[in-house]
Amino acid sequence: FTVDWDASAAEKGGWDSFMEKEIHEDPTAVNDTLLGRFNQAGDIVLDEVRIEPDVFRSIDKIIVVACGTASYAGMVAKYAIEHWVRIPVEVELAHEFRYRDPILTPRTLVVAISQSGETMDTLMALRHAREQGSRVLAICNTQGSTIPRESDAVLYTHAGPEIAVASTKAFVAQIVAAYLLGLYLAQVKNTLFADEIHQIVAQLKAMPAKIQRVLDTQAGTVEATAKRLLDAHSFLFLGRHVGYPVAMEGALKLKEIAYTFTEGFAAGELKHGPIALVEAGEPVVVIVPSARGRDTLHNKVISGIEEVKARGAYTVAVAEEGDSDVGKYADVVFWRPECPTLLSPLVDVVPLQLLALDMARLKGYDVDKPRNLAKSVTVE
Ligand code: G6P
Repeated sequence: FTVDWDASAAEKGGWDSFMEKEIHEDPTAVNDTLLGRFNQAGDIVLDEVRIEPDVFRSIDKIIVVACGTASYAGMVAKYAIEHWVRIPVEVELAHEFRYRDPILTPRTLVVAISQSGETMDTLMALRHAREQGSRVLAICNTQGSTIPRESDAVLYTHAGPEIAVASTKAFVAQIVAAYLLGLYLAQVKNTLFADEIHQIVAQLKAMPAKIQRVLDTQAGTVEATAKRLLDAHSFLFLGRHVGYPVAMEGALKLKEIAYTFTEGFAAGELKHGPIALVEAGEPVVVIVPSARGRDTLHNKVISGIEEVKARGAYTVAVAEEGDSDVGKYADVVFWRPECPTLLSPLVDVVPLQLLALDMARLKGYDVDKPRNLAKSVTVE
């Protein structure tokens, strides 16, 4: 009598792949990264960070250094931190950083974002920043890895071990950690009132349930879309504001595991070049900002969909429930529950992660170990 059992199936907790399991852990990754970061009064306490509040108060510029998915988490964070803290935030690919003689002072905080904590490009960038006298804070998912060890401070993401090469739950956790850093800076620099910070924290705490809702209600539509688009040779992804880095991340996911040529770009650039690529049947995935208040960004993105639709594109929108404009031009919509704009990347990326997973799976690829890629790249 033998039982068919293998350790790897058990580790996947009943899911077919680590990537599928890890996407379904997005809500937990957000929740756990928020745990233990507040005192009784609801203020943010980052005790583990080990940088004095006075030092944080003196910071007048942030430079995020990261690679791949982590760099897109940094791009999302730039929108929030500049809005809340009113200091400039630059986001730089770690491998470009030290070769351009960046302006670094003791008042610059360099934030190194890395899931593995072992990415050599990111490590070399932070070493350069410290040599120039700047402080480095690591946002990292791996306890005791090299990047946090060599940084002045660390804020761990609590996403749990990420095994699949393509990063998913670490991305949402990195956004949350960077937002906690931004809110903490706003607290010590008094750029937001305590009530405003408490309100944003309450909104952050509501996100795991919203991500879960996307997983529970949108997976079927995503899978049907993957089937419909399986033979497409290329995909375009577009978004504006925080939807722009989400578009970049959606494009990266599909490249990494489904081996599809993709490009992500800022929706406003459409007319400056990429629209020339659109021909009949071209899939175009668009992240649509909230329609509440019918703000100008929403209308501009909708007219972008209209433009590509008029040229025969197959349009896939990620849009807020209740958006009555999007249906006119989108062939399919992945719906997100209502949430504040700055927090919407935490839900908008989820159907894009699922889309990449479904496309790769339907093509018969190994979704956890895509060809030519490594989970952590320890060479420059
Ligand atoms: C590799 C992985 C990517 C990841 C990047 C940064 O290229 O394949 O998925 O986004 O490294 O990794 P890190 O561990 O520094 O976040």
